[in-house]
Amino acid sequence: APIDKGNYAHYMQKEIFEQPVVVAQTLQSYIRPFEGEVALPDVDFDLGAVDRLTIVACGTSYYAGLVAKYWIEQFARVPVDIDVASEFRYRDPVLQPGGLALFVSQSGETADTLAALRHAKVQQQRIAVVVNVPTSSMAREADLLLPTHAGPEIGVASTKAFTCQLAVLAALAANFACKRGQIGAKDERSIVADLQQVPAALNAALGHDDDIAAMAHLIAPARDVLYLGRGPYYPMALEGALKLKEISYIHAEGYAAGEMKHGPIALIDEDVPVIVLAPSGPLFEKTVSNMQEVRARGGKIVLISDSEGIEEAGDGCIATIEMPKVHPLIAPIVYAVPVQLLAYHTAVLKGTDVDQPRNLAKSVTVE
Ligand code: G6P
Repeated sequence: APIDKGNYAHYMQKEIFEQPVVVAQTLQSYIRPFEGEVALPDVDFDLGAVDRLTIVACGTSYYAGLVAKYWIEQFARVPVDIDVASEFRYRDPVLQPGGLALFVSQSGETADTLAALRHAKVQQQRIAVVVNVPTSSMAREADLLLPTHAGPEIGVASTKAFTCQLAVLAALAANFACKRGQIGAKDERSIVADLQQVPAALNAALGHDDDIAAMAHLIAPARDVLYLGRGPYYPMALEGALKLKEISYIHAEGYAAGEMKHGPIALIDEDVPVIVLAPSGPLFEKTVSNMQEVRARGGKIVLISDSEGIEEAGDGCIATIEMPKVHPLIAPIVYAVPVQLLAYHTAVLKGTDVDQPRNLAKSVTVE
C-alpha cells in the first residue's frame, strides 16, 4: 500500500518526526541491553585486525560518514580516509590489500557509490555497507552488511535515513573500539546505555518544533547563511547547509568554525545569519571566540547548544535552541533534528516544493 502522510503536511515532516521510532528500531539490532554489548552481524574476517578504514559515500550519506571518521578515530584510534564517491572512483586511491572499505547509502543504488564499491572490491578490499534498502545492489555486494531500519524514505532530502546511519555508525565505532582494545567491557556497557538514550533525546529535540518554526522567519529572508561547527559538528554544519540549500534554495555554506577566518568571514555582515552548532565541552571556548569574531562584524548568530552552552554564550544571539545534554558519542545524532526542522520550516515559508525540490532526485542511479 502507498505510504500516506497521515497528519503531516509533507513526507519530509513526517519522516523527521518518525526519527525516535526508526532510530530505536535500528539500534535494537545493534545493542544487547542485558549483556551491555554492542553487536554486529558475524563476518568471516577479524574486525579487530583492521588498522585502516576507507569511507566512501555521496550527499547526506557522505556527511554521516564524515561524522563516523571523527568517532572511529577518537574511540577506536584507527585512521580513516574518506572521500566522496565521484572522486574516489577516479583518483586511483592507494589501498592495501585486505583493507576495509565502508560505503554509506540510503538507496544502495547511487551510481557513483556503487562504482566506487566495485573499484574497492577489485582492489581486494573487504566491503562493509551501511544501507537502508536491504534488497539493493550494495547490500548484495557487501561482506559486512549493516542495515538501517528507517523504512521507506519518500522526501528527496534525506532525514531519517541520516540519523539511522549515524546510529549504526556510532554502534560500529563502539564495537570497533572494543575489538581494537581501546575500551573495556565497562565502557561498552555505558555506551550501550547512552545509545539507549538516543530516542528520548531525539524526542526532546523535536519538542522545539514550534520555536524553530518561529525562528525560520529570521532565516527565510536571507540570501546567504553560514553554518559553523567543530569536530563532529563540522560535518553536521555541512549537513545543515546542504538541507537548507536543497529545500529552501537559500545559499548556505557549512564551515569548520576555526577555518572561518580564512575566507567566509569576508561575507559576514548584518544580513548573513550564522548558525552555530556547539554543545558545551572541550571545544566550546574556541567556538565562542569564533562567535565573537562574527558579532564584531555585525553578524547575527543562532546558537544551537545545551543549557550550559546557552547560559555561557547565548547573550547577544538572535536566537538559541536548547538541546539535551547527552554523551559526546550520541550528541551529533540529536543535533540533526534542529538542523532538519530549520530547513523544513524555512522552505515552507518560502513556499518551495519541500518533498520534490527542483533539479534533485531521490536516488541518482546514473553518473
Ligand atoms: C541524492 C539525494 C540525497 C542523498 C544522496 C545520496 O542526492 O537527494 O538525499 O543523500 O543522493 O544517496 P544515497 O541513496 O546513496 O544515500
